[in-house]
Amino acid sequence: MEKFFVTTPIYYVNDIPHIGHAYTTIAADILARYNRLKGREVFFLTGTDEHGQKVEKSAQERSHTPKAHADLMVGNFRNLWAKLNISNDAFIRTTDPEHIKTVQGLIRILWDNGEIERRQYLGWYCTPDERFWTEKDLVDGKCPDCGRAVEQIQEENYFFLMSKYQKRLIKYIEDNPSYILPDTRRNEVLGFLKNNTLGDLCISRPKSRLSWGIPFSFDKDFVTYVWFDALVNYFSATMYLVPKKGVRSQESGVRSEKETLNSELLTLNSDSWWPADHHLVGKDILTTHAVYWSTMLMALKFPLPQNIFAHGWWTVNGKKMSKSFGNVVDPNAMIDKYGTDAFRYFLFREVPFGLDGDFSEEAFVRRINTDLANDLGNLLSRTLTMISKYRDGNIPDAVEDRDRDIEKKIKAWFTPGSESYFSKNYDDFLRQLQFHSALTQLWKIINETNEYIAAAVPWKEKDEDTLSNTLYTLAESLRLIAIYLYPFMPDTANAVWRQLGIGGSVGDFNIAETGWWGRLKSGMKIQKAEQLFPRIEATKENNSSVPPLTKGGEGGFENLITIADFAKVQLKVGKVIGAERVKKSNKLIKLQVDTGEIRQVVAGIGNVYAPEDLVGKKVVVVTNLQPAKLMGVESQGMLLAATDSEGVLSILTTEKDVKEGAGIK
Ligand code: MSP
Repeated sequence: MEKFFVTTPIYYVNDIPHIGHAYTTIAADILARYNRLKGREVFFLTGTDEHGQKVEKSAQERSHTPKAHADLMVGNFRNLWAKLNISNDAFIRTTDPEHIKTVQGLIRILWDNGEIERRQYLGWYCTPDERFWTEKDLVDGKCPDCGRAVEQIQEENYFFLMSKYQKRLIKYIEDNPSYILPDTRRNEVLGFLKNNTLGDLCISRPKSRLSWGIPFSFDKDFVTYVWFDALVNYFSATMYLVPKKGVRSQESGVRSEKETLNSELLTLNSDSWWPADHHLVGKDILTTHAVYWSTMLMALKFPLPQNIFAHGWWTVNGKKMSKSFGNVVDPNAMIDKYGTDAFRYFLFREVPFGLDGDFSEEAFVRRINTDLANDLGNLLSRTLTMISKYRDGNIPDAVEDRDRDIEKKIKAWFTPGSESYFSKNYDDFLRQLQFHSALTQLWKIINETNEYIAAAVPWKEKDEDTLSNTLYTLAESLRLIAIYLYPFMPDTANAVWRQLGIGGSVGDFNIAETGWWGRLKSGMKIQKAEQLFPRIEATKENNSSVPPLTKGGEGGFENLITIADFAKVQLKVGKVIGAERVKKSNKLIKLQVDTGEIRQVVAGIGNVYAPEDLVGKKVVVVTNLQPAKLMGVESQGMLLAATDSEGVLSILTTEKDVKEGAGIK
């Protein structure tokens, strides 16, 4: 059977899981579920990274051993994965004895083969941060992180000779265009490798300074920790956590270092699960995967993974997510409020995988109300209601000779070989991890099926066979829509099947058997319609007074407007001739702007700009906005400014010195 192996990063056990952790893990779950539907044998691996100074320190603070502390913390991840319906086949912990043996075994192989050297290490140590820096990391001779004084430390350490693989790695990435994705990230890695000299990688710490790591088997005074330990998890799991003939395996038996070394480490055969198909990682840990891990594998003479995919980061309401801002999104809270499947859907529909995205409850609620309650929910409830009313709750026969163009169009989406065959597009999208495009296309089908009801007008249909055919067409397309929904929203997909009267879970079937038109049996009894997604009412936090999204064109763009809409907005170049802060506000600045006439504009830019910096600047102003009062001060227009995902705010200005009052088109 064809194999499919997907991984998530292993998460620091000290962290409380947040939206970023949930994001990668759901992405891996979508791929795992889809590949199981395709009949592949799947190994979906996630887990926790448990060694290092931070864990040791937190444990000390709580008077626990580091392992006891990790045992407690790991539950946060396991519980969240259960709540998010994550179907991982294994959960690796870097404190697993088998993993430890594998790390020790691999270090030994590299040491024996001359890929690791013991050297003097000269570095700058920041005692409060417990971190080493190189000379060029320092900022004005101080710690680049906290700005405090650093002390020079000289000690012996072990180094992996990474530098010698620089050229080979460049060639490998160039020869294998899908090794690192998306392309922008691939280019960044290549740029980095071509413009810098790769150093060797320090992989040890003296035990006297860090005891919570994996001891070197041939030098008990040293431990390895963080990257050498963590990255190896992907390989070591294939030695002891892989699925055994249909059984999800979590058990490990401990072998000695010697046995592990001899029997398995060096023999990768057709039975072995290594290499992985996808390592999914966030953009911040791409270098460690693309450079450290790839060169480690080269030195071990192991095959490289098929692909490393770096996704973007979530900001929250336009701001960087951080504990100090108090804006960390807790997936548990979102699931409790809106449900698991809605959360899974939102993360993958809202933002293309690979790009940064912004999380706001308002956008989330809008998606629930529009896409889930309205589009999908209504399609199901209207279909079930009509089957109940007109056919006493039984799935009617398909009467093919009643097919009109409108039915033919729907059938074609689910008929192999047809030009509009959806399964082929969906498969292409999922193989390239374009989750957002797969969902956008699926929703196009959902919406066109809703439009089909309006075109077929079943409640006016006099011909019984035509009516049967319409009702069958609706039920059958819903059955198929549920199959493609399943990797993203497993419970919802199963609920659709259940309500249509089909038993079992979508996941129990192979898509090759179920994923095409005409498999729905007539005569089956449907169930009473249950609402899939209740509409969410507007509250202060979710503020869903925002108008619903309008559906967009082919490429999945949304909120498209016409040129006539745009022409309604009058934009002009203005020159700031006066500026002062609005009393009692940190954010608001009152500007006098010459846009051909002098107008007063209040702008929320006071956190970033001082009034004196603004005077004399050319700015862009919306001049035909209805006047509004901000903190009691009238604003006759709006200043345009851009804010990016890191929270950087910049006012817009003109590239050349254009005269004030100039129009903008
Ligand atoms: N332990 C290492 C990984 C070792 S893998 C061999 C680690 N752990 S982590 O817990 O800090 O981070 C795990 C993941 O969370 C990373 O992929 C990171 O990109 C992701 N995210 C952290 N914050 C994020 C957002 N705000 N948005 C999206 N993902 C983010 O690094």
